[in-house]
Amino acid sequence: MSGLLERSTLADEAAVRPALVQLRAGGVAVVVDLRGDTLPRILHWGEDLGPLVIAELSALADATTELIAGSNPDIPVVPSVLPEQALGWTGTPGLSGHRDGADFAPLFRVTAVERDPASTRLLVRAVDHALELGLEIEIQLLQTGLLRMRASVRNNGARYTVDALTPQLPVPMQAEEILDFAGRHTRERSPQRRPFTMGTHLREGRHGRTGLDASLLLIAGSAGFGFRSGEAWAVHTAWSGNHRMIAERTHLGSAVLGGGELLLAGETVLERGESYASPWLYGSYGRGIDAISARLHGWLRSRPQHPRSPRPVVLNTWEAVYFDHDLHTLRALADAAAEVGVERFVLDDGWFLGRHHDRAGLGDWLVDPVTWPGGLLPLADHVHGRGLQFGLWFEPEMVNPDSNLAREHPDWILATPARQPLLSRGQLALDLSHPDAYAQTIERISALVEELHIDFIKWDHNRDLVDPGHLPSGAARVHEQTLAVYRMLAELHERHPGLEIESCSSGGGRADLGILEHTDRIWTSDSIDALERQGIQRWTSALLPLELLGAHIGGPVSHTTGRAHSLAFRAGTALFGSLGIEWDISALSGEDRDALRNWIALYKRERGMLHTGELVRVDHPDPAVLVHGVVAIDRSRALFAFVAIASTVWAPRGRVRLAGLDPESSYRVTPIDPGGGRERHWQAPVPSWWGGVELSGAVLMTVGLTLPHLDPEELQLVLLEQVT
Ligand code: GLA
Repeated sequence: MSGLLERSTLADEAAVRPALVQLRAGGVAVVVDLRGDTLPRILHWGEDLGPLVIAELSALADATTELIAGSNPDIPVVPSVLPEQALGWTGTPGLSGHRDGADFAPLFRVTAVERDPASTRLLVRAVDHALELGLEIEIQLLQTGLLRMRASVRNNGARYTVDALTPQLPVPMQAEEILDFAGRHTRERSPQRRPFTMGTHLREGRHGRTGLDASLLLIAGSAGFGFRSGEAWAVHTAWSGNHRMIAERTHLGSAVLGGGELLLAGETVLERGESYASPWLYGSYGRGIDAISARLHGWLRSRPQHPRSPRPVVLNTWEAVYFDHDLHTLRALADAAAEVGVERFVLDDGWFLGRHHDRAGLGDWLVDPVTWPGGLLPLADHVHGRGLQFGLWFEPEMVNPDSNLAREHPDWILATPARQPLLSRGQLALDLSHPDAYAQTIERISALVEELHIDFIKWDHNRDLVDPGHLPSGAARVHEQTLAVYRMLAELHERHPGLEIESCSSGGGRADLGILEHTDRIWTSDSIDALERQGIQRWTSALLPLELLGAHIGGPVSHTTGRAHSLAFRAGTALFGSLGIEWDISALSGEDRDALRNWIALYKRERGMLHTGELVRVDHPDPAVLVHGVVAIDRSRALFAFVAIASTVWAPRGRVRLAGLDPESSYRVTPIDPGGGRERHWQAPVPSWWGGVELSGAVLMTVGLTLPHLDPEELQLVLLEQVT
């Protein structure tokens, strides 16, 4: 089973068992109640409380002891991090499972608590002797104040079925409102808000992938909480298969946020001695969503595998040529790319056996001899020769019925026996839990990585797994499939050090902290319409820092919406991400090429800050105006974008207050127009600060600046530099 807890660094089991523990890091405190032998209860998760001594922790525990409620159990009912029905909890149980219909209501007793003295990490061991189950719960407060937790259940008896393992974190009464995200292909991460009323707000993903509609964060906060205001708590389930997240308030007033894997029937049947581990449930607290994001971004950036080299400017061929591959055209495109400053050339879908359209070829990861009579090496060499990295698209988990793989190995396809699985995008899914299917796939990818010196893989996954049976038995296979993908990604990284992998799934359908343990970039959305992207990137970045978000400059007319946008709007939108181009730039006019080159130069100048600094999203009162920026860690510089997504009923649009600056420092404020400045129509006056102005951070944040005139779907960048 995945994710078994590592114990090497933990103290001896015999160590004295703490009763009340306070974990503190990054401005957050978590007070864990381990008194008695029931599972840990979190008395406080939120703002740091300072260094409390034992007596103060006891007083806190006394002061917050719940009352016994009428017509309820004769003990106060307080949910643990894995709430048990046997202790009166009538909300979602932490562990659901059974042995042939019996042994369904566990009651664990804690046997050991281990605390690594060098870290803010707790390991709690528990056992239910009657049900012959063992349990480990790991709670860790990471250095940025991000909390994470996972559980692992071990079967010590006869065969036991785990139906769900759902760790949960309590949130206080102040969490009155829920913000989560809906979505679909080309429109991921659409925010939705509702009151946090009694009952369960359940978000389930049954796509066999994270999902285009996955709510990357489930946030509960004080009424009207915003990016910079209010108090809020968020959770994320770090898993790329079926999963669920809950926000639940019971009749006792308690409210919890939780999440875990959504297991299909019989996916986790444990024989004696076997264990099942939940994915990590991440919890981020903050005063405003920006603080929640900062804790997530800061931690992601601290991981050893986080990409640290400057994020290269990409040219991706998809919207430039689609399936029209030919060496001459693509070499010319690579030349045009090199001329404007592109650093990585990615050949998208269309290069492999029989792939002349989207109904054939998936599964046959060999270069198509008709389209590429000389193989791909001449293109890869040409790209490398121009000093660019070479990237290639794969969709390793998929098969077209019209492929050699499907014809030769029908038993490698995920299906219900004796039934044709539903086609989706003309494709079926390959069962990577089948050892031969796994071996053939990784060997073919690996061979191409070696031969072509591939620097980057765009790893796609374009259909839901709705009927994912393992043949011949027909047993459900999303859990195993997800683990197999993680294993293959890890193995490719091991075999090919330096290889980078992007997680794509019809755009942002596989963007989660599980896949990000093994990948280096997320394809944020198949929509590169800059207007749509303003929303998609704004909300995807609630979870992920900008350097992980693939953001491409498309052609003047969007292929997914038909909207036309200026280069400034397209490029100024893509700038706040891992920048790329997805547009046929081989025939650009000299003027357009110069403008594009200037935008790329700006990205290269600022990416050091954009990809390490703090993301700021301003709560601007006018919903037609979005304001966001990045402030350098030392707050010496910042780059902001003022974006009009629609017209406003009043004009001029008033002032905008900035955020995240050092109030004491003075900043020189300069508008920047890398493309050469906007063409202004006769009614567009220029603000008086246009020539540059010096203002303190305090003035910029509390008084603000006059917003320049912005037509709908237009943006203005503003650079702030500390004046010494
Ligand atoms: C998916 C991806 C796109 C592109 C196509 C190719 O939709 O999200 O970026 O790679 O597949 O088929």
